[in-house]
Amino acid sequence: MTKTILLITALLATGCASQRPADDLYRDLGGDEGVTRIVDAFLVHLAEDELVVDTFADTDIAEFRRLMIEQLCDLSGGPCTYGGRTMAESHAGMGVTPAMFNALVADFIDAMDDAGVPQGAQNRLLGRLAPMYGDIVEG
Ligand code: HEM
Repeated sequence: MTKTILLITALLATGCASQRPADDLYRDLGGDEGVTRIVDAFLVHLAEDELVVDTFADTDIAEFRRLMIEQLCDLSGGPCTYGGRTMAESHAGMGVTPAMFNALVADFIDAMDDAGVPQGAQNRLLGRLAPMYGDIVEG
């Protein structure tokens, strides 16, 4: 029994040393599967949102999806490093208004609801996205 506990402890310790530990938020979002579910639901809501959908007319949606998943994983403390452009670079000249930003956030909240993300985790993730406002909204 003691041996088993020691073995489990050793395995856990090795796992933690070789990988960046996922923080609580990534885990609470449901890890890779949960983040992917959020982004896929988000794309559905975006596509139905008249205020923002036209902004994505020339966007490679598969690439946008990949970068969104990577960014959310990174932002929530998961084992990823966001490799896309900065928010200022990627949204420059797009003419994003406060109303468009709010609409997109509402779509994102709907997506988290669809994905079954608990309220507390939703709020924590929104709190990490909110500081990006100034780099995305123009004027
Ligand atoms: C917190 C809010 C937002 C986050 C976290 C976010 C995140 C991202 C990310 C990760 C990318 C990919 C960057 C890259 O291509 O390297 C991107 C691109 C893009 N975002 Fe946002 N975004 C936000 C708000 C908005 C808003 C409000 C709009 C417009 C309504 C918007 C429209 C776009 C478009 C059209 C692209 C694609 C640009 C292209 O095709 O080159 N985003 N965004």
